[in-house]
Amino acid sequence: GLPTRVRIHEVGPRDGLQNEKATVPTEVKAEFVRRLADAGLTTIEATSFVHPKWVPQLADAEQLYPRVADLPVALPVLVPNERGLDRALALGADRVAVFASASESFARANLNRSMDEALAMFEPVVTRGKAAGVHVRGYLSMCFGDPWEGEVPIPQVVHVCRVLLDMGCDELSLGDTIGVGTAGHVSALLTALTEAGVPVSALGVHFHDTYGQALANTLTALRHGVTTVDASAGGLGGCPYARSATGNLATEDLVWMLRGLGVDTGVDLGRLTATSVWMAGQLGRPSPSRTVRALSHQ
Ligand code: HMG
Ligand code: MG
Repeated sequence: GLPTRVRIHEVGPRDGLQNEKATVPTEVKAEFVRRLADAGLTTIEATSFVHPKWVPQLADAEQLYPRVADLPVALPVLVPNERGLDRALALGADRVAVFASASESFARANLNRSMDEALAMFEPVVTRGKAAGVHVRGYLSMCFGDPWEGEVPIPQVVHVCRVLLDMGCDELSLGDTIGVGTAGHVSALLTALTEAGVPVSALGVHFHDTYGQALANTLTALRHGVTTVDASAGGLGGCPYARSATGNLATEDLVWMLRGLGVDTGVDLGRLTATSVWMAGQLGRPSPSRTVRALSHQ
């Protein structure tokens, strides 16, 4: 069966904009977040408190966050380490996300650490976050394949998931950073996680649409009981530290499928599409989302 309701974790302002060549003005980002909230999205990942030299596109996190903090939605932010947590807490953030890797190569490329060193870096972030009453999401990148190492073994992914949950993460997001996963692999991973005692209620899925598999993978995850799905408005996005990563599953494509299945998301597809068309104008290139194009004649 399928869930009656899906919570969409909107990542456009973070995962989307972190990979744009153009630096988007802070006020445009704030307007983007406001419009997404207005379209009915209730969880909007706003920005990252990472090193500004690593992700210059999000170097304005201190200026952006206070501009959107009053919106009646959850506004998670990425924090790689205690320095990032301090910056987020100083602005009153109550939802943070650490981001681990299931592969050694990507841990080095994205975090300048081995997998174990990265997990050791997150431990005090999670512990202090929980002590401060903050909701902590744990991302796990490269759950299916890695550009340098190829297919990532399922037991390796299960192991890191267990470490993140034991650390105290409230939820996990399984990332297909470069979009190479297919439905059978998604099914096998979710089965293995369930067999390892990981509750499916703690799992979200985060698909990039590089090979056009994101919707099929999402439907497979829903059939396994997953009810949290990451997506980015208009299909913006990628990852600056993983070559061949393209945009996330487009939120509009997801909402179109779920609407057809009778699954409630609370999202107004017309307003959301209008937002992505507006953002495409700001970025100077059309949205890659098929649904946005179909609905807007873009
Ligand atoms: P590092 O160079 O090893 O940092 O980078 P360090 O710990 O050695 O510190 C060096 C200097 O940076 C110090 O300053 C720190 O204070 C400063 P100094 O003492 O030399 O003057 N520093 C910071 N400044 C501001 N904010 C901070 C911070 N941390 C240290 N938070 C680090 C290590 C983790 C910081 C770096 O590698 C980094 O920022 N990486 C982030 C990369 C990133 O954001 N990638 C994209 C997000 S992940 C993703 O997109 C995948 C996902 O979507 C899921 C999926 O698709 O799979 C989530
Ligand atoms: Mg991503």
